[in-house]
This record gives sequence, structure tokens and C-alpha cells, in this order.
Amino acid sequence: MRRPARRVSVLDDRQRIDDLDSEDQFGMVAGLPDQLLEAYAGAADVIEEAGGEVGGIAVAGMGGSAIGGDLVSNVYDVSLPSAMVTVRNYHLPHWLDSRSLVFAVSYSGNTEETLACLDEALERGCRTVCICSGGRLAAVAEERGLPLVKVPAGLQPRAALGYLSVPIAACLEHLGLVESVEADLQEAAALLRKLVLRLGPDVPAAENTAKQTALALAGSVPVIYGCELTAVAARRWKCQINENAKMLAFANEFPELDHNELVGWENPPAALEMARVVYLEDAGVHPQNQRRMDITADTLEAAGVQVTRLATEGESRLARLMSSIIIGDYVSLYLSVLGGIDPSPVERIEELKRRLA
Ligand code: F6R
Repeated sequence: MRRPARRVSVLDDRQRIDDLDSEDQFGMVAGLPDQLLEAYAGAADVIEEAGGEVGGIAVAGMGGSAIGGDLVSNVYDVSLPSAMVTVRNYHLPHWLDSRSLVFAVSYSGNTEETLACLDEALERGCRTVCICSGGRLAAVAEERGLPLVKVPAGLQPRAALGYLSVPIAACLEHLGLVESVEADLQEAAALLRKLVLRLGPDVPAAENTAKQTALALAGSVPVIYGCELTAVAARRWKCQINENAKMLAFANEFPELDHNELVGWENPPAALEMARVVYLEDAGVHPQNQRRMDITADTLEAAGVQVTRLATEGESRLARLMSSIIIGDYVSLYLSVLGGIDPSPVERIEELKRRLA
């Protein structure tokens, strides 16, 4: 597809990108491979081994602090001996009890939903681990002597994905609940380093899949579809586009969307004109899911909807998922550049929190 030359040249204008990007979000994405490895070093020791079965694992968090819970549970659910859920609300599910392990994750340490869940976890006698950069969560952990992983302060929570997710996986590995985390992280970091060299701002749009995808999505309402492993990446893409580019975007996953949303691709016609779809594909999906994705793409294209298909790379589930996430992080940043928007501030979230307080 031909792109307007002006848009392409905006994405290849490094000075313009640097001028817009006040808190160096591009640098944060480039630093993600190192962040993963740094976050692993030392994180596991925060939790002591304890005999007995773990009766359920929960990650309580919101927004950029919650996605790490989805990431870890989706990557390792194939081997976890216990149910693992991400809780994005004020209450923990009833079935979590004193045999359960609850991670309270809040970058700022001040997110009220997460603090409420921590209170419930403590009341029920759950084992807890707190992950934050400071705030009330760090204060409670210090007062009560709870295991605490302190992550570097001064970042946007969504830019701290490695710091907020890797300690969860490291603790689960330390407790013998999952295996191969260290090896997976090594593979993921090596792959992400290569992807940074292919997708970063110094690679021209003509050779850069992330810039091309942003150009395909500019001015649209992106609808991101994942399946199995990449369902988490679809959610991450949506949130990154919302927060970095300040754009509406939606996410859903196969096979569920074939049982409802598929029918919605008829009306209203104006919505179909605005929407563009991205598929996050992975070779590991059930063969019937692959067939579903192909048939659904035919239906969408017949309805005049553009579908961009992007495949994961790498071997381990973690590396594959991270490959899908990093391209979305870059796409969201290129969309912010195309919109002439600084990716960092999320004023509406801050204003809402101020009004609630
Ligand atoms: C992401 C972001 C939000 C926060 C969320 C929870 O960059 O700004 O999604 O992550 O509002 O806040 P924290 O992470 O401080 O618990």
C-alpha cells in the first residue's frame, strides 16, 4: 500500500521524534531486553521457600502494573500446578485463602484497587509479595515485614513491564512452580535486542515493520486480535496505543470473538470505515484456531476491513510473546509521532485519580 510521503518522512525524522518524546519512551523500549535481565537478578530471593501446596496465585494490579500478571500466567499456564489469575478490581476472588500466593503490583504503590486487594490478602492470611517503586504499598510492606521488590522510580508504569513482571516469574521459579524462566529470559532478551535493531526509530519506514504498521493504522480505530499466547499482547497493544498515542483502540481474542464480534462487523458502516484490524499470530496455536483466523480474515476483508498480520518470532513462549509485545510498543510510539503527541503524559488518568482521592 502506498503511504503519503509526508507521513513516512515524519517517522524518519529523528529530531522530530526526540523533540516529542519528552521522557524517552523510545529509549525505554530499546532498554527492555536489559530491563528483563536486570529485573531477574536478585528478584527471586525475596520469597522464602515454604513447604506445602500453593492453593492459587493472584496478581492484583491495574493498567500497566497488571499486564505483567497476564504475561506470566499466559506464558507459564501450560506448566503451572495451580490456577493463576490477574485481579483488576477492589476484591480478591473468594477462593484465595491462606494457602494462596498474592502478588500486589503497583508501580506508584498508591493504586487504591491494589491496596484494597493487599488488605484482603493479609486478612485471609495469604502469602504476599509486593512489587512497586515506593508509595503506600512499599510503606505497608516495610511496616509489616512483607517480601518487597522495589523497582526503579521515575518511569511510566507501562515502561516498567520487565521490572513489574519478571519478579513474579522469578518467585514462581524459586518456589519450584515453573521452570526455565532464566533460560527463557536470556532467549527473549537476545531476540528483543535484534528486534530493537530492526524496529527502532533509526531504521527507515521502508525497512521497518513497526513504522509500516503505524502508517497502516494512522487515523483509524485499531482493533487488535490475538489468540492463545498473543491474547496478552493484543491487550498490551490496545493499552499502549491508548496511552502513548492517546487513541481509541480495542482488543479481543480468538476463538471467542468468532462467537460474537464477528457478527458485529456489519454495523454501523461508519465504524467499519474507521476500524483497521491487526492479527497477532503465533505458530503454536491450535490448528482450528489458525483456520478460524484465516476464515475470519476473509470475512473482514470482504467487508472492506484492512487486516495486517504479524507473526511472533523466537522459540520459548516468553520470547514469542515478548516479540509480539515489543512491536506493539513501537507501533504505539510511532502512532504518537504521527499524531504529533508526546507519548509520556497520561493526564486523564492522573486527573481521574486526583478526583477520586
Ligand atoms: C500505565 C499507566 C496506568 C497505571 C495504572 C495503575 O503507564 O499509567 O495504566 O499503570 O493507573 O497505576 P500503578 O501502575 O501506579 O499502580
